[in-house]
Amino acid sequence: MKILVIGSGGREHALAWKLAQSDKIQIVYVAPGNAGTALDKRLKNIPITDPRVLVAFAEREKIELTVVGPDAALADGIVDLFQSKGLKIFGPTKAAAELEWSKDFAKAFMQRHNITTARYQTCTDATSAHAFVDLQGAPIVIKADGLAAGKGVVVAMTLEEAHAAIDMIMGNQKFGAAGARVVIEEFMTGEEASFFVLCDGQYALSFSTAQDHKRLLDGDQGPNTGGMGAYSPAPIVTPTLHARIMQQIVKPTIAGMAAEGRPFVGFLYVGLMIDTDDNGTQTARVVEFNARMGDPETQPIMMRLKDDLVPVLQAAVAGRLDQIELDWDRRTALTVVLASQGYPDSPRKGDVITGLPKKTLEEVEDAVVFHAGTNLADKQVVTAGGRVLCVTALGDSVRMAQKRAYEVAEPIQFDGMQFRRDIGWRAIENKARKH
Ligand code: AMP
Ligand code: GLY
Repeated sequence: MKILVIGSGGREHALAWKLAQSDKIQIVYVAPGNAGTALDKRLKNIPITDPRVLVAFAEREKIELTVVGPDAALADGIVDLFQSKGLKIFGPTKAAAELEWSKDFAKAFMQRHNITTARYQTCTDATSAHAFVDLQGAPIVIKADGLAAGKGVVVAMTLEEAHAAIDMIMGNQKFGAAGARVVIEEFMTGEEASFFVLCDGQYALSFSTAQDHKRLLDGDQGPNTGGMGAYSPAPIVTPTLHARIMQQIVKPTIAGMAAEGRPFVGFLYVGLMIDTDDNGTQTARVVEFNARMGDPETQPIMMRLKDDLVPVLQAAVAGRLDQIELDWDRRTALTVVLASQGYPDSPRKGDVITGLPKKTLEEVEDAVVFHAGTNLADKQVVTAGGRVLCVTALGDSVRMAQKRAYEVAEPIQFDGMQFRRDIGWRAIENKARKH
């Protein structure tokens, strides 16, 4: 069969890489893809991004399943469009993806269904937003309602920062409709973890956990990014806590969406804040929902999934996920992002990349270099975006996976390359503290 993956980042490379390992697959198309997907013989890039042209391509090529990577395509209703033509596509409809593209919707939904999250207030004008912030005090969290490419959230430690954030979001043309409303939230303390599930509209299947590193620099310093590295699983999510999250957060979310006439089919990414209460019991509250896989979290997760992903996604589209069980590599996988000069503000493009593993896309002793922002120019691999490569490795512990990932990253070079040297530090430190 033929499959189409929509997107061009490290997440999409990892998904296409995994799907292409299936016996059932003739070819995996990636639209538009990157140099990594171009160099893999089992994958084929197609230079299409317009959803209507993608539909025509899927019809002409008799694509049996389409998988969507990025949030923007989902918020634009690409799933609705494919479905209206009778094409099979794995991802939430526009209405279901509102869990991600409107923070106000997500917060009100959680309130309706008793799902634990930070207290909040939505404001539609700056005057009431400023007044609410004065009433609450700092620290406080200010969020643009809509999608803002990761730039719409300010964790304000002082009142001045909070007021500036309101002005930045509501008074800035850059945010457009996304900034017409702000969600003002109670500040939560704890450790963040990402909890993934696969959903078929009625049933949710656990799809592992991860922790990412949002700040640019070592020790979680510097500006926020899309993510500079990640590992899976997240040791902080103990089996007991995992069961509680499924019962108290995931199940009511899936049931609630179905009951509200927006059954959720797709990957659901639950961002959690994990803390301990006065009795020493772990607690988990929702920070946010995403209606897609995480990037770079997908890269380590795909390395650990042992099953063929194709029948799993087909079962999800057919509403048969309750018949599926997944088998995971018990090791840890860890990914280190190599980013371009100027990332995240103004990433430079066109730098030549050297030192990639010879068998670019084959597994090199339990490590894979997934491409993100790369392009082929005169048969050379060059940088083409902020996050360039995701060096991903398996190991018996977080520390071993970390060691292997940095070994594989070592020969890779391009001008202005930035990366963190401490991916995995939190898990390694937590473990050291326990012993
Ligand atoms: P979001 O896009 O909602 O995930 O927010 C981006 C980041 O801001 C999260 O990953 C957290 O690190 C932080 N954040 C968001 N909401 C809160 C909150 N209520 N309390 C503390 N930190 C938060
Ligand atoms: N790594 C965070 C995200 O994908 O949203």
